[in-house]
Amino acid sequence: MIFYLSLMQYLFVLGRNVELSKVEIFSYIEKEKINCKNFSINSNGLMIDITREIDKEQLIRRLGGTIAIGQVQFTGSLNQLLDYIKQNEIYLETETKFTYTIMNFCSESSFDAFSDELKQKFRDEKLKARYQGLRGNIKMQGGEVIHGSPAKIKARDIIYFIFEDSKSKKYFFGTIDCISDSKEMERRDMSRPIRREELAISPRLAKILVNLSQVKEKEVLLDPFCGIGIVLQEAMLDNINVVGIEVDRQAVTDAEKNMVWFKNNYQTNVFFRILNEDSRKVVLTKKVEGIATEPALGVLLKSVPNQERAREMIHKFDNLMIQVLNNLKNYLKPTTKLAFTAPLIKTNKGSVSCNITRICEETGLERYDLRICEQIFSFPIKEIRKEKVVNREFFVLEKI
Ligand SMILES: C[S@@+](CC[C@H](N)C(=O)[O-])C[C@H]1O[C@@H](n2cnc3c(N)ncnc32)[C@H](O)[C@@H]1O
Repeated sequence: MIFYLSLMQYLFVLGRNVELSKVEIFSYIEKEKINCKNFSINSNGLMIDITREIDKEQLIRRLGGTIAIGQVQFTGSLNQLLDYIKQNEIYLETETKFTYTIMNFCSESSFDAFSDELKQKFRDEKLKARYQGLRGNIKMQGGEVIHGSPAKIKARDIIYFIFEDSKSKKYFFGTIDCISDSKEMERRDMSRPIRREELAISPRLAKILVNLSQVKEKEVLLDPFCGIGIVLQEAMLDNINVVGIEVDRQAVTDAEKNMVWFKNNYQTNVFFRILNEDSRKVVLTKKVEGIATEPALGVLLKSVPNQERAREMIHKFDNLMIQVLNNLKNYLKPTTKLAFTAPLIKTNKGSVSCNITRICEETGLERYDLRICEQIFSFPIKEIRKEKVVNREFFVLEKI
């Protein structure tokens, strides 16, 4: 057990899509009405300074785009940090033999100075501390490869981090306390009774949609294109009640099987309802607090279409969304957020994306901007896999 005086500054180690992962965390902060005093980004590290303690263990399970969370113990200039290491107890465990690693979010020279100081400190304290480099890589959306994934760390290792805010030149030091359990997420995904690989969204992206919708515990989230229910299940893990609508009878049967399995395997006290209806016409008996969905993205494309064909597909998508949203807006409480993905189709003449201006004009819904620390974060945010013909854009609309 480590007892440090911790500051309310947290490091989030982000996954491959930094922009989306960052906005997911900010949506959570906004939903929880947590006051964010400052934030900074360095590579795939997001440092936030907030006015309230967060439950890191719970949050790492909720977030789809974050791979680890750490808490800051010291902040100051590099020299102040080196002094801090010299003068304070950094390692408080009883075992005298251990391995440790350092996640680096600063320049190589600062990292070397810091790591030498830490090594010396352990030597002075007669600890058998063995430094172990990080293993694995994280392939970022932009093509960059970041060496060292916290997911590859063994539980017994201590992971320190050093982060530099390039604007204020301040350094942050602390430990990584929680790591996302990718194996458990994969297990959940693979052991579902019914899987539909080509259509179903990944649990990580489903979690991101749920967080972007800002639906709170015990409220009701609606997925109007629920398929076999991945988004619904990830929402239920966060104690959110869910309603799914699905036009295809077989998919409804499959979703029901999955939901029963899910309820039996994961303790949740929330309800689910699956309706075999068309979301363009469905009549709901109660209002909901948010929408999170991956709509039908159109036919599965294996090769790059020409621009005309892609435009046709997108036009169909826009029309479907307009009809569905015009129907569902009647069942949304005020300030409800609607988080959804839309297709981004590769063509020989660039990508074609949905016409969100038209969707907003024809539904009366508004584009939602997230405001954190006087900065505005707008949608869409792209989620791209180079090898795919149809990629995704994430949107959030709001009913005012
Ligand atoms: C991309 S899939 C959704 C995948 C889902 N997120 C999952 O994890 O399984 C889109 C689903 O929307 C359904 N769908 C298409 N048009 C619909 C409509 N008008 N109303 C309700 N469901 C519809 C399709 O049958 C399909 O199962």
